Amino acid sequence: MNIPVIAFFNNKGGVGKTSLVYHVAWMMSDLGIRVVAADLDPQGNLSSAFLDDDRLEELWPEPPQLATIYGAVRPLQRGVGDLSEPHMEQLDDNLALILGDMGLSRFEDDLSQVWPKCLDRDERSFRVISAFWRVLQKGASQHRAQVILVDLGPNLGAINRSALIASDYVVIPLGPDLYSLQGLRNLGPALREWRQGWQDRLEKNPDPALVLPTGRMQPLGYIVMTHSIRTGQPVKAYEKWISRIPVTYRHAVLNLEDEAALTADVDPNCFALLKHYRSLMPMAQEVRKPIFHLKPADGAIGSHFGGVQDAGQDFRKLTHKILDQAGIF
Ligand SMILES: Nc1ncnc2c1ncn2[C@@H]1O[C@H](COP(=O)(O)OP(=O)(O)O)[C@@H](O)[C@H]1O
Ligand SMILES: [Mg+2]
Repeated sequence: MNIPVIAFFNNKGGVGKTSLVYHVAWMMSDLGIRVVAADLDPQGNLSSAFLDDDRLEELWPEPPQLATIYGAVRPLQRGVGDLSEPHMEQLDDNLALILGDMGLSRFEDDLSQVWPKCLDRDERSFRVISAFWRVLQKGASQHRAQVILVDLGPNLGAINRSALIASDYVVIPLGPDLYSLQGLRNLGPALREWRQGWQDRLEKNPDPALVLPTGRMQPLGYIVMTHSIRTGQPVKAYEKWISRIPVTYRHAVLNLEDEAALTADVDPNCFALLKHYRSLMPMAQEVRKPIFHLKPADGAIGSHFGGVQDAGQDFRKLTHKILDQAGIF
């Protein structure tokens, strides 16, 4: 059975993708859901959010980086075999991580080259292009996971194309700015092109024994980062951009032509207007915990403690919405 894969993706950086994958993965784990978090951004930010430098140094030794996603695809890249079993870094009973790796960017060229070759029914090309999906499924089966969350880098390159082909669902984090609106206008068509491109290729799989991803990449919804919400409302300067997101999302991502006059706070495609957690975020990063696990001993005292509880509620609600929308549970 294939385990559902949810990618958090936007071709723009700094919109909260990595922080969201980190917090949603922890929340799923707290809710008793067995989850794999996979770091497919060669920058490795998700890995360093979960693990301290000592542990990373153990797991990121000199090449070959066997314990990472790159380590798992390396035999295939070198032409000495297929994938190896990924190392699953156990973070909690329910939560395991597939580590990222700077070296992964060295796989980008291979992924670019095999994409057209799939149309020629080239078997190795299918193995390479589906490598991420197959590693994720191997990892999920090792961990007996119910869901896989994937963090990606901010671009429309071949690594992300391959990671999105591996995804059943896509959650789109956005910033309240012009760049995010522009980003949506590129991202929507790119997702459609990749989805169609994969459907065209799937028919040409020469090896019926090679199980491939369906390439569904269904957009589930978006999450907007807002800035310091003192009054419960986003700061004025951002309202203008936030108000334009619902229609832009419908046009660019869902390919719908209608002009539904919705605001983000009631738009069914909007999972959340995410608060800026101010000093709680660096405090949580310092002790490598999600915000909602902070304790008074970590510095979460006084009004901070209320903030910790609010963050717990925000992420619980967000996580339930994502699971409901994906129909996973
Ligand atoms: N809700 C939030 N409140 C406060 N800071 C945040 C929030 N979400 C993200 N950040 C901070 O914003 C920066 C960018 O977030 P990150 O998750 O790394 O974005 P991306 O992965 O899209 O580049 C990081 O320094 C992160 O700690
Ligand atoms: Mg990131």
